[in-house]
Amino acid sequence: MRFYLSLFDPSETDGTESTNPAHSTPNPDIVLPHLAARSLMAMGDREALLGTVGTSAEDLALWVLSYRHEPAVVDGLLAKYESAEGSQEKLLEVLGRLYMNEAPYDGSWWWTTRPNTRGPYYKPVTWEKSTEIKALFLAGLEGADDAKKTRLASINDRMRMSIDDLGTLIPERVEPEQPTVDLAKISSQKGAIGSTPIEDVILSLGKLEGDLKNGEMLFTRQGCMACHALEQGGPALGSYMGQIGSIMNDEQIATAILRPDYTISQGFQTAQVKMKDGTMHMGFVTSSDSDTMVLRDMAGQVTTLKQADVEKEDHLPNSMMPAGLANALSLKEFADLVSFLEAKKN
Ligand code: HEC
Repeated sequence: MRFYLSLFDPSETDGTESTNPAHSTPNPDIVLPHLAARSLMAMGDREALLGTVGTSAEDLALWVLSYRHEPAVVDGLLAKYESAEGSQEKLLEVLGRLYMNEAPYDGSWWWTTRPNTRGPYYKPVTWEKSTEIKALFLAGLEGADDAKKTRLASINDRMRMSIDDLGTLIPERVEPEQPTVDLAKISSQKGAIGSTPIEDVILSLGKLEGDLKNGEMLFTRQGCMACHALEQGGPALGSYMGQIGSIMNDEQIATAILRPDYTISQGFQTAQVKMKDGTMHMGFVTSSDSDTMVLRDMAGQVTTLKQADVEKEDHLPNSMMPAGLANALSLKEFADLVSFLEAKKN
């Protein structure tokens, strides 16, 4: 078999060098066990597989069983657990994997544009045997030493069990501190911009020569820097401004500042999330997969919500960017600010 596998090299089939070594190099060390596992899966003799626990054949058999979400498989593994001294760690791995199952795809959801591919499931859901498996893990916590607690937390993480009591080894994300600015005060000030019709403001842009240096100062003074980054790594409450001039012209930039609700940029729709317990959350969805949704509100506060606890998610038609931040500016100052942003190109 090794001989035949070593003969087969897909990179030679069309006479060109393959740039994909993973596929062009035969790897009998994994191919053979894989074929054996697939064959055992096809044969499906549950009792024979369970019978290997405690023998030298258990690794392959447990690999096969870890794919079988059948009540009788879980019953069999649980029945073996107490007496299988030397195999308990392996049994926990398999039972941990069997705790969740892949949700049947019913067309009502999608794995998003950034699916969580870390496995073992795209959308884990509990099934009829989950309660018993959970009970075994929780019982294992009692009197557990640190090494065992770490092992249980690791299985909890890797198998996406989401059992809070088992803990986690994944460090909590710490968001960088954000500058604080009194935006309400800035937008309450009245000046030429606040009392001039938007059409006239935009017409004036064409007649005034913007001063980039002054625009940069105004970007800070009017509070823009609290939300927008000019360089990578800055605040990300609003869209990145480091190359805004390549994306928007002066008119569009001016409109975005004067009428934030007019167009809302991709990824910055305000989401309003209602939880099953009645609480509400508002913010941008910064990431979302089948387990969790991460929301960031305008204060930079990050909240991680469990998808399972979400009742409904709506998108609000208004921007999280406050209107009126430029109200106190003169027409000339506004032109400076817009020119400064328009010059941000790369
Ligand atoms: C409280 C946070 C916040 C502040 C302060 C803020 N913005 Fe925004 N801004 C946002 C958010 C969120 C968006 C994206 C939603 C939208 O398009 O309205 C945005 C969008 C924009 C856009 C459109 C960009 C795009 O990619 O569509 C421009 C231009 C802009 N802001 C300029 C400014 C300027 C100039 C200031 C200062 C006068 C400012 N912003 C202050 C949050 C803020």
